[in-house]
Amino acid sequence: MALRRYNASRMSGWLLILAFVMTVSASVLNMKRASVCNGHAELCNRSYGNTTFLGAHDSFAFSSDPFALARDQEVDIPTQLGLGVRLLQAQAHMKNGALHFCHTDCVLFDGGTVQDYLTTVHTFLQANPNEVLTFIFTNPEGVSLPNVWDPAFQASGIAQMAYVPPSIPTKQSDWPTLGEFIDSGKRVIVFLDAGADTDRSVPYILPEFPMIWETPFSVTDASFPCSVDRTAGPLATTDHMYMINHSLNKDIFGLGIIVSDPLDAPTTNSVTSIMANAAGCEPLAAGRAPNFVLLDFVNIGQGLQAVNQLNGLA
Ligand SMILES: *[C@@H]1O[C@H](CO)[C@@H](O)[C@H](O)[C@H]1NC(C)=O
Ligand SMILES: *[C@@H]1O[C@H](CO)[C@@H](O)[C@H](O)[C@H]1NC(C)=O
Ligand SMILES: *[C@@H]1O[C@H](CO)[C@@H](O)[C@H](O)[C@H]1NC(C)=O
Repeated sequence: MALRRYNASRMSGWLLILAFVMTVSASVLNMKRASVCNGHAELCNRSYGNTTFLGAHDSFAFSSDPFALARDQEVDIPTQLGLGVRLLQAQAHMKNGALHFCHTDCVLFDGGTVQDYLTTVHTFLQANPNEVLTFIFTNPEGVSLPNVWDPAFQASGIAQMAYVPPSIPTKQSDWPTLGEFIDSGKRVIVFLDAGADTDRSVPYILPEFPMIWETPFSVTDASFPCSVDRTAGPLATTDHMYMINHSLNKDIFGLGIIVSDPLDAPTTNSVTSIMANAAGCEPLAAGRAPNFVLLDFVNIGQGLQAVNQLNGLA
């Protein structure tokens, strides 16, 4: 009798331990690891600095009107994202006391407020939790980071998703993997071309050129000769990521008025043209493919196919 009671209590002790172990392992398993990242299982273990992303140049400047000469895109932001765009580029200007995305100035093309734009992107990110997204914004008027840019990011909900590297500048080889970004919930990387190098008061707004170099802009040569156009900071060129500005512009009427031409886009955005541009740049990047392929008219041509090929997925 005594023996049996002893066994019973020992048994319930074991059951208690077993229940505890099961609870702990279940909660460990609940910290689920992303198994598909930006649409591909292969990308989860890939470092951000070793990944190629499709980019939309002047992403806000979309119009289906062929007479809107200042447009660089035909389709809106959700459509661009649906096509696989994971780098959104845009230029900001102040208009009536609010930050807007505008082309050159807000008379030529007004894409609305930065806050509304970011809110649209936030909706996409919430519906697509396994996607890593980059912004490269330009700040030609040197608008304040803490007083203007940060409030727009905060109000849109994107600030809470933005990644802050442990130190700046971050080398190309030192970025987390896409899986790590997604698992941590910090899966938006925000670069600004001007202001973030001197003002570090908004930690997630990162200075672009100390970490990314770009090929020249306003390219009018269809062979896209490669050179390091804009770069900065102490890191070697090969320790930067890089972006190819793969859009062709036309000098209309020889007047020095440079516009983007959708009639060229099927050729410019072909796999052949993008791969040739990338191949021309790789010698400047220790043989690495571009991190960002920035296109006009992303809905035309084969941008995503070229990017998949550069990622070794095709
Ligand atoms: C991820 O990469 C690490 C090293 O970089 C490697 O040890 C590991 O096996 C990889 N995991 C998968 C699932 O490919
Ligand atoms: C990633 O690494 C592979 C092999 O080292 C290289 O061929 C490829 O170009 C790299 N891609 C990028 C974007 O760095
Ligand atoms: C090149 O990229 C930069 C964005 O960082 C942009 O300001 C410029 O307009 C681009 N040029 C072309 C020709 O796409």
